[in-house]
Amino acid sequence: MEPAKTEEPQKVIFSAIQPSGTITLGNYLGALKNWISLQDEYDCIYALADLHTITVRQDPAAFRRHTLEAYALLLACGIDPKKSLFFIQSHVPTHAQLAWVLDCYTQFGELQRMTQFKDKSAKHPDNINAGLFTYPPLMAADILLYQTDLVPVGVDQKQHLELTRNIAERFNGIYGPTFKLPDAYIPKNGAKIMSLQDPTKKMSKSDENANASIAVLDKPEDIMRKFRRAVTDSEACVRYAEGKDGVNNLMGIYSCVTGKTNAQTEAEFAGKGYGDFKAAVGEAVAEHLRPIRERYADYIRNRDYLEQCWGEGARKAYAISIRTLRKVMKKIGFVPPKPM
Ligand code: TYM
Repeated sequence: MEPAKTEEPQKVIFSAIQPSGTITLGNYLGALKNWISLQDEYDCIYALADLHTITVRQDPAAFRRHTLEAYALLLACGIDPKKSLFFIQSHVPTHAQLAWVLDCYTQFGELQRMTQFKDKSAKHPDNINAGLFTYPPLMAADILLYQTDLVPVGVDQKQHLELTRNIAERFNGIYGPTFKLPDAYIPKNGAKIMSLQDPTKKMSKSDENANASIAVLDKPEDIMRKFRRAVTDSEACVRYAEGKDGVNNLMGIYSCVTGKTNAQTEAEFAGKGYGDFKAAVGEAVAEHLRPIRERYADYIRNRDYLEQCWGEGARKAYAISIRTLRKVMKKIGFVPPKPM
């Protein structure tokens, strides 16, 4: 008799992005592109991390609009609600509940060491709120609620992922196996897209210089202009080398959108100047993003469909995450509530 087939359970992917304004080429190449490609092979759960966004003061109307736009844009990028769960974090109350619990298993010193906390407090000295400080345990809650295996993120989130593992290990150490320990899933190419104006800094949504970052929804002519103005160096030779941060960044972006290796790019532009190279990168990026912009225009007009998707996403996310939360509460010793 043949042995019964034991099906391996699918690995769980979780990731999230803040709806804090413009979604950039950095977000797309560092994280979103992987989110899309993982959908066929894994159980994928994705969220708009809107609770994280209020650690920086938001104008209510703009915040609401950015959240709607981000939801439509991620669908346009290729998140398929038939394959993946895709919800808005504030719609699923288990996230804030587990975050409080994890706050109590995270040390002050650990949070003080987070580089993002240090950077953001330096940037907003008039609003160093407690939420900015306890942001990492909320992110840990997002991930741990779903017994996540892999978290596709850019390299700037690596430290938060390491802390998530530490918190989970600490909790498991006290109460026995409760949380799965997640791994970061960081792309080889595109993990850190740099600013076009200062290639020693990462490309960021909040950069004041509009030429420093490309938005996924930028018009082709704006994309071309920003790449034409990208800061490079005086060598005028397209090659990947230490100290050539601007050119290295452009080569990385070119590779992400065309699939070409650096050697192929060097050969393609041998004997040509930066003008030709920058135009080619701009064109390749604009072409890559064009279908996303077109699909976005349809999604953003269809509010009913968006609501249906995020309603369904939140309902399913709640059903999964409440199981972990109940287990956690029981292990700590909370008296179980009666159903409300
Ligand atoms: P956020 O919204 O800042 O960024 C979303 C994703 O984009 C990546 N990213 C980049 N990748 C490459 N180059 C860049 N210049 C670049 N800029 C941003 C980020 O690494 C991230 O993957 N705290 C998170 C959101 C979050 C989350 C989570 C992520 C909340 N809960 C749970 C994973 C799991 C954040 O602020 O990402």
